[in-house]
Amino acid sequence: MENIEWGNLGFGYVKTNYNVRCYYRDGKWGELEVSSDENIPIHMAASCLHYGQEAFEGMKAFRGKDGKVRLFRPEENARRLISSAQYLKMAEPSVEMFVEACKLAVKLNADFIPPYGTGASLYLRPLLIGTGAQVGVKPATEYLFIVFVTPVGPYFKEGFKPIKCMIDRDHDRAAPLGTGHVKAGGNYGASMISSVITHELGYATPLYLDSKEKRYIDECGAANFFGIKNGTYVTPKSHSILPSITNKSLRTLAEDLGLKVEERPIDYTELPTFEEAGACGTAAVISPIGSIFDPTTNETIVYSKDGNAGKYSIELYNMLRGIQYGELPDNHNWNVEVEM
Ligand code: PLP
Ligand code: COI
Repeated sequence: MENIEWGNLGFGYVKTNYNVRCYYRDGKWGELEVSSDENIPIHMAASCLHYGQEAFEGMKAFRGKDGKVRLFRPEENARRLISSAQYLKMAEPSVEMFVEACKLAVKLNADFIPPYGTGASLYLRPLLIGTGAQVGVKPATEYLFIVFVTPVGPYFKEGFKPIKCMIDRDHDRAAPLGTGHVKAGGNYGASMISSVITHELGYATPLYLDSKEKRYIDECGAANFFGIKNGTYVTPKSHSILPSITNKSLRTLAEDLGLKVEERPIDYTELPTFEEAGACGTAAVISPIGSIFDPTTNETIVYSKDGNAGKYSIELYNMLRGIQYGELPDNHNWNVEVEM
């Protein structure tokens, strides 16, 4: 292992030692297998390559202040992958198999779990793909579930500094009754054009509106949106957004803080009324939103005038990170310790 500058890691791929694999053949899952190969041999007619039978997860393991290694709410990711598999008609891993594979992948790559205090963590990428050859549009009969890990730093280069977003009305990442609520690779393929254009224009991420009426806030690139006003944490309710585990956790922490919580459609005209806004997700953690540019009106809504996050965003961030790094009591039993 080369010397890794833990404090300077971005959100990219760093080779680690092992990954964990499990094959679904003849109607059943096999045993977990450990591999040191970064490549997967794949049939050219595999259903994931042609018809997008592919779903993934994103989660993190943290090395705590006490030296213990913890996964954050892995059963939630397992359940979400199962719901993705159900929608895309893929073989479903069990919650137990998913969590066991994640623990094993963390344990086998112990050298790559960033030290406490560096701000970095070990990102886990569980992946489920249809590997069976299929030329007609129908589900494959063979699948591969794989978990690889890679140490990461902040998703946005701004870290916890407020980011600039831009409303994108020209592209939809998901259809109203489509796949937005599951973590299908196709959603990300559909969003590439939008994220490249917004980056080129100098924004960290696009903000998507609902694709039917173009009125309601959906989500913020690869993260959910939340706004805070009048002592209330407000986050969109929409069938076409990914149910974020970070957002679910922040709703609980917001209540712990004494905030009211509302999950409801957010009309874009409500945006200027928020006192704080943020993007949240495993990769994004909380990325405070400093401003939102609306190309239709040519107006910019500014949340952060001084370049800093708002007070509730800071408190929520500290609570979430504190629990994940074992600095604060895990009152909701979210962490799962990995025996090293
Ligand atoms: N929305 C999208 C589209 C995402 O890709 C992610 C990342 O997983 C999220 C939201 C945040 O979800 P979570 O908090 O479970 O990581
Ligand atoms: C995550 O937050 O885990 C994501 O999946 C976001 C992105 C890197 C796809």
